[in-house]
Amino acid sequence: MVRSMNGVSTGVTELARARLVRAARAARRRAYAPYSRFAVGAAVLATDGTIYAGCNVENASYGLTVCAERVAVHAAVAAGRRRLRALAVAGPSGITPCGACRQVMDEFGVETVILAASGAAPESVALRELLPRPFMTRARRERARKARRAGL
Ligand code: THU
Repeated sequence: MVRSMNGVSTGVTELARARLVRAARAARRRAYAPYSRFAVGAAVLATDGTIYAGCNVENASYGLTVCAERVAVHAAVAAGRRRLRALAVAGPSGITPCGACRQVMDEFGVETVILAASGAAPESVALRELLPRPFMTRARRERARKARRAGL
């Protein structure tokens, strides 16, 4: 277990967290947010150490907008990485993932979320704190149990 600067225990090293925050902030610069002007970047760390980034992608049909977090998670899955450890989100002050993204992170095992607000020190929080009771099905519970047993 690694203890972060803000005292939260995480399974992610200080170095990995720094890399994630850097990748999320870089991705934020690629945000496509002409309607809200609210630019967000995200980066996820897979269990094999690889990092995938995403930014929010808006649309003239507003409801088609996808958050940065989901773009990053889906990029990891599309690259074959289904076991994820941590996600960093970079955005304006107070940035925190929306409820839908919290549920999507839970699906792929994210345990640590790093909130990287601009002009502030990144803060690590447990996904369980952000989403204490994720939506569950029996199939989902079974998959999570198997992954834990396999030590993933
Ligand atoms: N957004 C994200 O990308 N991530 C979040 O955590 C919150 C919201 C995006 C969606 C939309 O493009 C803009 O921010 C304003 O809601």
